[in-house]
Amino acid sequence: MTANNPQTMGQQFGRRSWAEPWKIKMVEPIHMISRDERKSALDEAGFNTFLLRSKDVYIDLLTDSGTSAMSDRQWAGIMMGDEAYAGSRNFYRLEEAIQTYYGYRHIVPTHQGRGAEHLISKALIKPGQTIPGNMYFTTTRLHQELAGGTFVDVIIDEAHDPASPHPFKGNVDLDKLQALIDKVGAQNIPYVSLAGTVNMAGGQPVSMANVRALRELCNKHGIRVYLDATRMVENSYFIQEREEGYADKPIAAILKEFCSYTDGAWMSAKKDNLVNIGGWLAVNHEDVFDLARNMVVVYEGLHTYGGMAGRDMEALAIGIEESVEDDHVRARVGQVLYLGELLTDWEIPIVQPVGGHAIFLDAKGFYPHIPQNQFPSQTLAAALYLDSGVRSMERGVVSAGRDPKTGDHRYPALELTRLTIPRRVYTQAHMDVVAESVKAVYDAREQTRGLKMVYEPQYLRFFQARFAELD
Ligand code: F0G
Repeated sequence: MTANNPQTMGQQFGRRSWAEPWKIKMVEPIHMISRDERKSALDEAGFNTFLLRSKDVYIDLLTDSGTSAMSDRQWAGIMMGDEAYAGSRNFYRLEEAIQTYYGYRHIVPTHQGRGAEHLISKALIKPGQTIPGNMYFTTTRLHQELAGGTFVDVIIDEAHDPASPHPFKGNVDLDKLQALIDKVGAQNIPYVSLAGTVNMAGGQPVSMANVRALRELCNKHGIRVYLDATRMVENSYFIQEREEGYADKPIAAILKEFCSYTDGAWMSAKKDNLVNIGGWLAVNHEDVFDLARNMVVVYEGLHTYGGMAGRDMEALAIGIEESVEDDHVRARVGQVLYLGELLTDWEIPIVQPVGGHAIFLDAKGFYPHIPQNQFPSQTLAAALYLDSGVRSMERGVVSAGRDPKTGDHRYPALELTRLTIPRRVYTQAHMDVVAESVKAVYDAREQTRGLKMVYEPQYLRFFQARFAELD
C-alpha cells in the first residue's frame, strides 16, 4: 500500500481523515418504508430485487450502472447538446476524448455496453469458434453465444476462491490459454475477451504485467485482444496501488498504457465514464471498424450517435475527462474499501481483496445450510432488503444461467451477493447503515431458509426470474 491510499493516509498523521473531492449541490430525498411494506414489496417482486420499484428502496446498491451523479460541468454539457441527426459536434468531442484517454483509433458510439458487445461479437465471431476470457460476464457471454461462439474461462484459479488474497485475481492464466490454443487452434479463436476489472470475480483487477504477457502470447499466434473497458479506470487505480513501478504514474497514463496492449475495447459508459446512459466501441483495425460502423446503423443508430442524444455524448465526453482524475478514483474506490473494512472487521464473509466497484458478500459463507439450487445469494439479497430497504443483487447460480447444451443450471464456484456502490452518490453514513444491516442479516443467518424459482425467463434470467419461499 502506498502513502496515498485513502485508508492509510489518515493514520500517518494521527487522526487526519480524507474526503471526497466534491461537495453536494443538489439532493434527492430518500426514505425507508416500514418492514411490513417491505415484506409486501418483496412478495410482489417475487423475491427478485430487479423487480422492486425504486420508490420502495432506501439505499440502492443494485448496480453502479447508470446510477452515478453527474457533475455540474456534465449538466452544463447537457445544455450544449447538438441534436443534429448526422455529424453532431458532440460526437467529435466524444471521439476525441476516447482517443485521448484510451488511445484507440476508431470510435463507434452505442446506446450502452451491450450494444457494443453485440457489434463486436457479430463482427468477429464465426459459428463454432471459441472465445477465451477472464471469467464470463452475463451480457458479454450471451452476445458471444448468440453469434455462434463458445466462451471458455481462462482466468487464474485464485479468482474462483473468495478468500484468496491474490492482488490481481483478474489475471489471465496464460497456461490455460496456451492449452486452449493447442486444443482448438488459433484460427478458431477470433479474439481474447479481456475484462478489467472482472465484475463476476468481485471487481478484481488485471495487472499490467499480465496484459503485456497476454499480448506477447497472442502476437505469437496472431490472435487479437479486445478489452471490456467498463471499469478499466478502477483497474488502473489498483495497478497504481499494487504493481511495482506504477505508484507515481497518474491513472490516465496507466489506463492508456494498458489499452495500448489491446486491439480495441467495448464500453458501458454507465460505469467508469460517469453517465446515466451511453456506450462505445473503439478499435484500431480498419477492417473491424468498417464492419462495426456498418452494423451500427442497423442496430443502434447512425455512426455519429449510435443511440445517444447529442447531449448524452457531451456529458459522456466530460465524464471521461473527470473519470481519470486521480482524486476522483481514489475517493470512489476508497468508499468501497471503507465499507469492505467495516465488514471485514466484523468477520463477515466477503470476497477478498475488496474490488473496485462493490462489496461481494459470500453467500456460501452466510448460508452453508442452503444448497446452491435453493439460491443462497438470491436469498441473501432478499433478506437484506427486508431488514433495511438496502437493495443488492444476486451474482451466483441465477446469474450464471443454464448451459445451452445440457440445459442444466450452471453452478459457479462463486455464489455472491453484490453491494454495488454508485459513484459520487452516497455518503459514509449511508455506508455505515449498509454495514450494520449486513451484520444484522449475518447474525440471523441460521434461521434463514432458501428459495425456489417459480418463473424463469429464457435469456439473462436473473433480471426477471421470480422466486417464492420454500415451505
Ligand atoms: N461489461 C461489464 C463488465 C458490465 O459490468 C456490464 C454491465 C456490461 C458489460 C454491459 O453494459 O449494462 O451498459 O449494457 N453491468 C451492469 C452491472 C448491468 O450491474 O454490473 P450495459
